Amino acid sequence: MNAYAEIRELAERLAREAGVLQRSRYETHFKTRAKGADIDLVTEVDLACERLIVDALQTERPDDAILAEEGSGDDKPHARLRWVIDPLDGTVNYAHGYPRFCVSIGVEQAGAAVVGVVYDPLLDELFAATRDGGATRNGRSIRVSSEAQLSRALLATGFAYDVHESEDDNLANFARFAKLARGLRRDGSAALDLCYVACGRFDAFWELKLHPWDVCAGNLIVVEAGGRTSDFRGGPAPGDGRQIVASNGAVHDAVIEVLQRPSAGTP
Ligand code: IPD
Ligand code: CA
Ligand code: CA
Repeated sequence: MNAYAEIRELAERLAREAGVLQRSRYETHFKTRAKGADIDLVTEVDLACERLIVDALQTERPDDAILAEEGSGDDKPHARLRWVIDPLDGTVNYAHGYPRFCVSIGVEQAGAAVVGVVYDPLLDELFAATRDGGATRNGRSIRVSSEAQLSRALLATGFAYDVHESEDDNLANFARFAKLARGLRRDGSAALDLCYVACGRFDAFWELKLHPWDVCAGNLIVVEAGGRTSDFRGGPAPGDGRQIVASNGAVHDAVIEVLQRPSAGTP
């Protein structure tokens, strides 16, 4: 049995429990407020999901550290394992009744992900991986696509919450790939985007200014499904999410080449 199987089982159970909560409150009246920028929302369902996961971990894994997006984590610098939690990835979608959101739970040891679980409660799809143990969707092995041509690739990206103010806004990249790829999606859940690369629905995904909780689980799931992850230059993907390119490997260098083009000039 993989050394992390027990941790993965706990992550799966908590992701499913939070997912049940998301599904039961979906399209009901729940409170929503802006966190900073007007477009950066948190709903009471985000907070309830985080409470559920963090409370369970504090009872069942009292020695582990927790980093959770809405701030209820428990930083223990000498802990062996750290749980990295996005209780609801795709909050803008959730708040608008757009059916694409998930729970993302990653677990790190010595700064590297060892378990990743992402659960989409509406499609009842649970993506999971353990380091060196492969990646699955609902228990069945998944693999990245084999497409090597950007012109035949389906890509995905997203925009950070400072998109209205920042010049580093990903729009030039978006325009370039729209002209180069078969299709380009901005679907509002980075964790699911990564899982869709892992199971071959997307051939590549890139985004900047993400956070550890957006990428911790999904990055591992991509790698364990045979894919590649990196920063925008092809170096190791930073665990803090500030740059991520995830792909099937075959199309990776072509994506990096486009991201490296100078931003001035025509797309
Ligand atoms: C967001 C989503 C979105 C991405 C944003 C993230 P949240 O996470 O993953 O797809 O483009 O950059 O912040 O706020 O819904 O958990
Ligand atoms: Ca997120
Ligand atoms: Ca979130």
